[in-house]
Amino acid sequence: QPLAVGIDIGGTNTTFGIVDRRGNLLCGGHISTRDHQEVSFFIQALHDKLAPLIQKVSLEGGEVKGIGVGVPNGNYFKGTIEFAPNLPWRGVVPLASLIQEAFTLPTVLTNDANAAAIGEMTYGAARGMKDFIMITLGTGLGSGIVVNGQLVYGHDGFAGELGHVIVFPEGRLCGCGRKGCLETYVSATGIVRTMHELLQSRHVHSLLRDVRPEEITSKTIRDAALQGDALAIEAFEFTGKILGQQLANFVAFSSPEAIILFGGLTKAGDLIFRPTIHAMEENLLQIYKNKIKVLPSELKESDAAILGASALVWEIKT
Ligand code: BGC
Ligand code: NA
Ligand code: ZN
Repeated sequence: QPLAVGIDIGGTNTTFGIVDRRGNLLCGGHISTRDHQEVSFFIQALHDKLAPLIQKVSLEGGEVKGIGVGVPNGNYFKGTIEFAPNLPWRGVVPLASLIQEAFTLPTVLTNDANAAAIGEMTYGAARGMKDFIMITLGTGLGSGIVVNGQLVYGHDGFAGELGHVIVFPEGRLCGCGRKGCLETYVSATGIVRTMHELLQSRHVHSLLRDVRPEEITSKTIRDAALQGDALAIEAFEFTGKILGQQLANFVAFSSPEAIILFGGLTKAGDLIFRPTIHAMEENLLQIYKNKIKVLPSELKESDAAILGASALVWEIKT
């Protein structure tokens, strides 16, 4: 049976899997991204773990057709990454051809959030939708914009860098070198920055006052908020407010049926969704009010981008 490999490269870890046409993940694994400061060592480590899996499914009668990759700043047209502040590699990296050479399999690459959008569209919360916006909240904020059933790539392949829309001129310094980008407020790292600011400026009790600064993560903030910690709840409210205000702007671009939110932060449920939806509705143009669904992704976090990246393989023309 025809199979495809999906690879999701993140700033910390890279996960991969072998997927059939119906989106079943047959097997998979992961390696560290961060521990491989040289891209050639990264490719080598990937090959060491993934090649045996490809060999195994081939022996069992599978026919691996190609490799799909989702990566921050990935360019679908060129198969490269060019400026990826959250990855260890600098300069233009021809990642698709490096992987293609290592595995001798046709390889396509796209932006990680685009891959997640394809995953949700093919197998998850956006099945049957023709117009939606995928927002991924991880180390950064990624987006995949689908219009008329097609992912928007734009002229140069870089459409949808919504994490770097400036929300506060002269605001927080971003990994991209500019100030006030959305992802410096709305992301797993953004909420941590917010929490530190709140702890410094407010002299009220918080569960997070007693932990070491480096132990304040989006997950510990979520746990504290779920236990009723007022400052942690406020951090989520602030994050949701900024996100919702920007969603109202994004809606005006493409009139989506839904916005799908993805990533660890969304596990906080109402704590993030309520302020987000509230701020979005408050800022939406009248014609859009009470029409835009804001939904959590349906696919498991690590799976969405693997499935989406693997789905790209079925489009490779041979
Ligand atoms: C990058 C995007 C990426 C997002 C999520 C942003 O900083 O610019 O390309 O999709 O992070 O990883
Ligand atoms: Na994108
Ligand atoms: Zn930025």
